[in-house]
Amino acid sequence: MSYQHIEVRPVAGAIGAEIFGADLREDLADDVVSEIRQALLDNLVIFFREQDISDDDLARFGRRFGDLAALPPHRQVPGKFPELLIVEKKPEDTMNFGWEWHSDTSHLEIPSLGSILVAKVVPPVGGDTFFANQYMAYDALSDGMKKMLEGLRAVHSNGRIFRTLAEGGTPPRGTEGVSADWAEMWATHPVVRTHPETGRKALYVNEMHTERLEDMTVEESQPLLQFLYEHSCRPELTCRFQWRVGSIAFWDNRCAQHLALNDYQGHHRLMHRVQVKGTPPR
Ligand code: SIN
Repeated sequence: MSYQHIEVRPVAGAIGAEIFGADLREDLADDVVSEIRQALLDNLVIFFREQDISDDDLARFGRRFGDLAALPPHRQVPGKFPELLIVEKKPEDTMNFGWEWHSDTSHLEIPSLGSILVAKVVPPVGGDTFFANQYMAYDALSDGMKKMLEGLRAVHSNGRIFRTLAEGGTPPRGTEGVSADWAEMWATHPVVRTHPETGRKALYVNEMHTERLEDMTVEESQPLLQFLYEHSCRPELTCRFQWRVGSIAFWDNRCAQHLALNDYQGHHRLMHRVQVKGTPPR
């Protein structure tokens, strides 16, 4: 794909590209937005640097790709719009948000299309985010395994956070106030989904939200799911993004997983995020 309005430089062999030539504080022209959308479809996650944008700019940029998904009440920020998510780890915190491989909100019937995250405060070192290409994860499976996965569905939930609480763990900042009306959410999705825009097949199970295969127990499901978790995030399927203040990542949850590395104890990291609404996985 050749681009007229932006420059797109891949950052790794499997996934991720840096975008140059777009100032996200501006109301971008339609053809610039359609090239950014194409860059997202081609690279699964796109990165922007040195974007000194406000929350309103972030929301306006996000809305160019669809409606934004509102958050449950306990995650909303007083005085801000309901779709703004604060992702924060303070020096005294031990857990971070998004510490395991996952695709955002796969515990919902309609998970988000993508998330847009902007860095406000970054640790002196560490706090990188990994992304993994789930088209390549699917393509790399044997024909036999692909056939076996055909038609299989998996049950996803937000139960991980409840287990962390029940085990006496300290949940990531912002999830302490999980309320009964939020607990627990369950959704069943195909193990292999077809991307609604590219038509490509992608693996769609993840360690953080997938509980078990449909019509099977957790124990029966574990061996296959564990294989798929490890397979889907093999190093050659990934890229690693080093944040600076003003960096932005926009990832496609329909075909990519991500993990926020928790290797910056004693330091502050603060990010603001919006989520673009998706469609039911098919
Ligand atoms: C997330 O959305 O899972 C958080 C990613 C990050 O903080 O890098």
